Amino acid sequence: MTDTFVPQNIIVTGGCGFIGSNFVHYVVNNHPDTHVTVLDALTYAGNIENIAGLPADRVKFVHGNICDAELLDRLVPGHDAIVHYAAESHNDNSIANPEPFLKTNVEGTYRLLEVARKYDVRYHHISTDEVYGDLALDDPHRFTEETPYHPSSPYSSTKASSDLLVRAWHRTFGVRATISNCSNNYGPYQHVEKFIPRQITNILEGIRPKLYGDGLNVRDWIHTDDHSSAVWTILTKGRIGETYLIGADGERNNITVLRDILEVMGEPADAFDWVKDRPGHDRRYAIDSTKLQTELGWHPEHTNFQEGLEQTIKWYSDNRAWWEPVKAATEEKYKQQGQ
Ligand code: NAD
Ligand code: DAU
Repeated sequence: MTDTFVPQNIIVTGGCGFIGSNFVHYVVNNHPDTHVTVLDALTYAGNIENIAGLPADRVKFVHGNICDAELLDRLVPGHDAIVHYAAESHNDNSIANPEPFLKTNVEGTYRLLEVARKYDVRYHHISTDEVYGDLALDDPHRFTEETPYHPSSPYSSTKASSDLLVRAWHRTFGVRATISNCSNNYGPYQHVEKFIPRQITNILEGIRPKLYGDGLNVRDWIHTDDHSSAVWTILTKGRIGETYLIGADGERNNITVLRDILEVMGEPADAFDWVKDRPGHDRRYAIDSTKLQTELGWHPEHTNFQEGLEQTIKWYSDNRAWWEPVKAATEEKYKQQGQ
């Protein structure tokens, strides 16, 4: 299937965060006709270094907040699509202080939908599989586009709220919107607060890795480059008004992932600490991406988790200057939470 829409000038919100910046690299490397404007507030999770070195004639950076309606009104004309990644993204932070999650994830999405509506700009909304709640470990089902919403955490409930706003703005105002709900990403540029980078950088710093609860919670891992190619596919070929689930059949429990990291890094299998569980901790996520694969012809390419994990460990080992400045403060925050 050929692309039905090839955007010339896209706004990528949150393009200095983990997944957003990987998407900007993906577009620059694979789609030479598309120019990118990154709109990012550079919160604790944003880092301008993530897009450093990209060609200035392809990527422009605007420092600003998605809740700033006046800025959006000035910025959006001249662009033909918005790909909305910006969010408060970390569950543990949403439990400690939900307020910024409501502001950015709900109000920020509302502001972007209003400006997309005003200027009739194509809008793609990045969301999460967490809107569906969790599955039992022995449940034979996986999440599909038909699974009812049942979010557990302040983070996932604000993401679910934002998805519902998108559906309403499409149906009521005709905003040309699509939504994707993806599973857990891993790869370079992920903040050290998240599970995989936290454990890798702990080991590099001589700190024991930390495992929540019984370690049997399952996440459905996908390499961030596969997420990027899926988003591009939906942006260019997806049916307006539709939702697509993104996943790569990567279910693994946390203790298995941690033992893989320990082994690759030459540590004993028991060299970690059990810590307090996350309140409301979702047990298992699992994505059925049949709709995206059969309707739009997308397929993941980076499905060798062991290989992707080794590359990710190498990236954190080679890029200490990227994460060292934020490591101590991140661990201090966890320590205060008993984690
Ligand atoms: P991240 O926390 O690494 O990055 C978020 C980015 O958004 C940062 O650059 C930050 O500065 C920016 N930002 C935050 N608030 C902003 C605001 N008000 N205005 C402008 N910019 C703002 O997040 P991530 O892990 O890259 O996640 C990106 C998106 O993907 C989120 O919408 C998240 O819900 C979704 N998602 C993440 C995963 C995952 O595994 N990390 C999986 C599925 C979906
Ligand atoms: O499923 C998609 C979601 O994946 C995204 O929407 C979120 O933005 C993203 O942060 C991620 O959410 P999780 O809560 O699953 O990711 P996190 O990296 O925080 O934790 C992964 C698992 O590891 C989870 O079961 C909690 C556990 N964990 C986490 C940390 C930080 C530990 O056992 N120890 C830890 O130190």
